Amino acid sequence: MDIERFDPIGDPKYTMRISRLTIDKLGIKLYDRVSAVLAELIANSYDADATEVSVSLPWGVTLAGTVRSAEDPQYRIVVRDNGHGMSAAEVNAHYLMVGSDRRLRTGSDLSRERGRPVMGRKGIGKLAAFGICRTIEVITAGSSPADRRPQGWAVSHLVLDIDEMLSDTERDYHPRVGELDGTFTTHRGTTVVLRDFYRKRVNSGPELNRQLAARFGIERTDWRVEVHNSAVAAQAESFILSDLPVDVMEETRVDVSTRPVRSGRQYLPVTGWVAYSRQPYRDEAMAGVRIYARGKIVAQTRDFDIASGFTGEYKLRSYLVGAIHVDWLDDEEDLVRSDRTDIMWNSARGEALAVWGRELIREIGRMGERSIRRRVWEEFRERSGIQATVDAIAPNDRLFRDSVLEAARILVANKDRAALDDRSHVENIVRLALSLGPQRSLLATLAEIAGESDQGLDTVVALFERARVAEMYSLGQIASERVAVVDRLSRLIDDRRSLERPFQELIESAPWLLAPEWTPLGMNESLTRVRAGFERWYAQKFGQTLVTSSIGSRKREPDFVLLHDSGELWIVEIKRMDYHLTDEEYNRAINYLYALDTYLTENPAIGTQFPRRRLTFIVDHIDRLRPASRSSLDSDARIDRRTWRELLDSTLRAHRDFLERVYAMRGVDEDPAAGRQAV
Ligand SMILES: Nc1ncnc2c1ncn2[C@@H]1O[C@H](COP(=O)(O)OP(=O)(O)OP(=O)(O)O)[C@@H](O)[C@H]1O
Ligand SMILES: [Mg+2]
Repeated sequence: MDIERFDPIGDPKYTMRISRLTIDKLGIKLYDRVSAVLAELIANSYDADATEVSVSLPWGVTLAGTVRSAEDPQYRIVVRDNGHGMSAAEVNAHYLMVGSDRRLRTGSDLSRERGRPVMGRKGIGKLAAFGICRTIEVITAGSSPADRRPQGWAVSHLVLDIDEMLSDTERDYHPRVGELDGTFTTHRGTTVVLRDFYRKRVNSGPELNRQLAARFGIERTDWRVEVHNSAVAAQAESFILSDLPVDVMEETRVDVSTRPVRSGRQYLPVTGWVAYSRQPYRDEAMAGVRIYARGKIVAQTRDFDIASGFTGEYKLRSYLVGAIHVDWLDDEEDLVRSDRTDIMWNSARGEALAVWGRELIREIGRMGERSIRRRVWEEFRERSGIQATVDAIAPNDRLFRDSVLEAARILVANKDRAALDDRSHVENIVRLALSLGPQRSLLATLAEIAGESDQGLDTVVALFERARVAEMYSLGQIASERVAVVDRLSRLIDDRRSLERPFQELIESAPWLLAPEWTPLGMNESLTRVRAGFERWYAQKFGQTLVTSSIGSRKREPDFVLLHDSGELWIVEIKRMDYHLTDEEYNRAINYLYALDTYLTENPAIGTQFPRRRLTFIVDHIDRLRPASRSSLDSDARIDRRTWRELLDSTLRAHRDFLERVYAMRGVDEDPAAGRQAV
């Protein structure tokens, strides 16, 4: 019975029909980028031994949407090649055959006439265009000398329409025959015209250039692709597809041809290079390592999936670039994923390549880190002119110069070059370096933080920048300010008739006379509040008005001057030159100190900001003090006294290096210390 059903001469009993809906599912939707579609068409021309390909499309436009009005331009994308073309029979056997492996079909993985390693394999590339348009028109003539007629080469002209193709998936699809079909031509070659686009964006010329260049890694003299802009009819605008120009740090370039990939017992050849780019590439086409098989891009990776935690990691992902040729990814075995966006990394060869890549990355990461730092530093030196600045400020103080440069080096270590484009940022770094440089211990701490992590230093630098230390500490400003103050102090001291007021004003405006380490760290506001609060509190408590500042109190001499220095409130009692402090004045000042204590205890919110308080007398003589007062002065660590000369001397001593530099810079012999010694 079974035998009866067997019909050896009729139509095949069983037929497997591949629905054309699979075409839709084959992944053409993935080709929504114009550049990716162009790449497939160009690859086909290459495989057909073309030496010239001309692509024409409107740059920088949005191809028409699904709903079109009559005024909408009827855009076309045309790819024309001078390859061997196809005969009508070949159109049927090759072009209209979906998903047939050309290397099996033709029995070779080399092109027919020029022996190029062909890029095509899967038999689906031509369908890519349906990712962006509905109509593909093919005009082709060729292909082998035997096909040539006396009139020339017979032209095949067919129009594929995706909607027609998918409307009836049961029967065979017969593309419409175009008007040129059956005519003859003197030249072989294939022209593909795309029409009826979806809403797709065509990039600008330069972007298109980069994207296309990134897709191919072919270096041959018999291959030239020119891409024309059809949006500007009048002037000819075009580019020639060439190598992607990537600006790399030459010293980090690794030629990979000397390091084959180990896969089991085999060593598989690779060629190309990997390096650090001079600037981080945000452009997708340029960033990362492009992997080519047979001249066509098959994958792109920024890190070969390396795990975190290696030297230089921080910058690697933004700086790593390369182009490597790995033909064995597309040899006997097809390791390119069918969506063509990546390779199968989990295959044996894929894994071997990943292991190889990670090893390479570790090595280049170490190299790159050093190079980037060096480069950013060089560029910073150039742009900031910091060398000239320190040379001018401190021609004879090598230690100072080195330590400012060292500070700058630490500050720029974590910057990338883009940060140096900001002029004011560069100026800030210079200023910050000038103020940090001389603070050796701070510098050491910074270096330590910098060594630990990039982020930590960032925070510290941001903090400094926010606190505007840099600006306030601009050396030029400090220099002239301090020199002027020192000069004025010397003059006041020399003029024995000077009254208290000018001294008070001077000390108040230049608290560093008392404490060379004093920094203007943004506490002035809280000091104003403390002053006001304390004066009000004092008036209520003792029924007396107090004046704690010489600034803005024209009517009255201040009772004392109140200063602050990082967590410290400082009562400064200033008496004019040659003055003899009285017991009464001494006790009154001490009472101010205790009143201040009480005030701050009663107002802990303010008090905790200034946990330390002290009292300093600047007065030349204390011979009129009673023994009790003297002993309190000697024993109370919070109370001290200086004479005017001591003050000037200690200021000069503390600022000696500094002032020397300034005077040297001015080239004038006006060192007040020199004059003083003679007195
Ligand atoms: N410009 C062309 N000139 C001559 N023949 C072409 C051209 N474009 C396509 N063909 C023929 O049509 C076939 C199908 O092309 P298609 O791009 O679909 O597949 P493929 O190139 O073989 O493989 P892949 O899917 O990997 O690109 C090609 O193998 C080739 O024989
Ligand atoms: Mg192809």
